[in-house]
Amino acid sequence: MKPLIVANWKMNPQTMAEAKQIFDLIKKGVKNAKNTEVVICPPFVFLSIISNVVNPRQERGLTTIKLGAQDVFWENPPAGGGAFTGEISAKMLKNLGCEYVIIGHSERRKYFKETDETINKKLKSALENGLKAILCIDKKSQIKNALKGIARQQLKNLILAYEPIFAIGTGKACSIEKAREMNFLIRKTIKTKIKILYGGSVNSQNASDFVKKAKFHGLLIGKASLEPKEFVKIIETV
Ligand code: 13P
Repeated sequence: MKPLIVANWKMNPQTMAEAKQIFDLIKKGVKNAKNTEVVICPPFVFLSIISNVVNPRQERGLTTIKLGAQDVFWENPPAGGGAFTGEISAKMLKNLGCEYVIIGHSERRKYFKETDETINKKLKSALENGLKAILCIDKKSQIKNALKGIARQQLKNLILAYEPIFAIGTGKACSIEKAREMNFLIRKTIKTKIKILYGGSVNSQNASDFVKKAKFHGLLIGKASLEPKEFVKIIETV
């Protein structure tokens, strides 16, 4: 299985020009990297500029770059008639060329009071509209609630990301032993073959251990994904 490397740019950078520059450097850097799937999740406002430069026809065997969003709302017009000021629907993302969406990131749970219930609704909307959903969790117990009522056949488009809160943005990644243990526990809980990613202070020094030793299918990367050289190094090491 191709490793899946997801860049979560969070609320960065602050200008379109910088976003384009970071993306261009990453694209150039991974040109010859073998067999990895890279997903860039910029803020909503930069999605369309980046969707214009993601190359849809990429060579087999080499790295492919896909587009993802950092969040999605659960309603889709005509239900509700689109009267949800400030929100973005799964259909909008799909029509823009997004293939992935991050759902339930711990920062959204913390600052925007997202609950397992709202995360469940977002997951349903994303999956029903053909997006691949990256569900972030830091506890095993969050899986069951988030997946309530989702049919087994829809799980093929689900990816789980284990992001221990203590490791996010702190520079203190989870130990490989603990991460590996959680990876196996999550796999046992979910009982379906899906991709499981690790996220939290990943850098070019520890990235390959999470894939090779802790057996994750890939990585969800915050800070280091905004540093093109470091991000490309991570892709090369895995
Ligand atoms: P950092 O890589 O900056 O720790 O962020 C991880 C994360 O939250 C990715 O979603």
